[in-house]
Amino acid sequence: MSFDERAKTWDTPRRFERASRIAKELRNEWEGMLPVENALEFGCGTGLITFALEDSAEQFYGYDISQPMLDIYTEKAKHLADTSPRKTSYQAISDLLQAPPLDLLFLSLVLHHLPSPQGFFKQVSPLLKPGGKITVVDILSGGDFFHSDTETTVYYQGFSPEDLEEAAKKEGLKLSSFRNALDEVKVNEDGKECHYSLFVATLTKPKFS
Ligand SMILES: C[S@@+](CC[C@H](N)C(=O)[O-])C[C@H]1O[C@@H](n2cnc3c(N)ncnc32)[C@H](O)[C@@H]1O
Repeated sequence: MSFDERAKTWDTPRRFERASRIAKELRNEWEGMLPVENALEFGCGTGLITFALEDSAEQFYGYDISQPMLDIYTEKAKHLADTSPRKTSYQAISDLLQAPPLDLLFLSLVLHHLPSPQGFFKQVSPLLKPGGKITVVDILSGGDFFHSDTETTVYYQGFSPEDLEEAAKKEGLKLSSFRNALDEVKVNEDGKECHYSLFVATLTKPKFS
């Protein structure tokens, strides 16, 4: 099934629980710099991670290629604004140029669906303020490969620190941290138990270039 088709059933208890663990790791990663002014989640899906980050930014932007995912993000943002007024605002965007200069851009379990990490860094680096950061959560290379779904394009089975460092360097970004953060187990469509780890890595745009 494509991400468009999966949008309505994306929010499962397992994904909520994982999003809350990932959000905790992200807040640790950004310790000392929160709250930021503008943060954008690239490939936000229904916003599970963004909404678990609570007041880490004054304004969150959610960008995704899937309009059905963005529609659910927008419904959730409206529900939050109606039921618990807060300082943080949320906006779904279908064009990255709608975002103002960003303090943070983050993505979780998206990079392996993109054709090239370097191409991705080239696309998003101009969106960052000087000193702004990109934080990537994705699959560490070397674990069991769990994707058995053939309708979401998967380009990579995982990344090493060297993969990210090399791609980042070519785009003038510095890999400022890389750590193995979460150990996961998933039973794939063939009933096989797959063990893999997720890393958290941060790349920083120089303050002066
Ligand atoms: C595995 S899901 C992760 C969703 C969300 N980050 C989460 O953890 O719940 C991957 C998401 O990336 C989006 N995506 C895939 N390719 C994309 C691209 N080229 N640009 C923007 N979003 C993309 C998909 O539509 C999907 O919502």
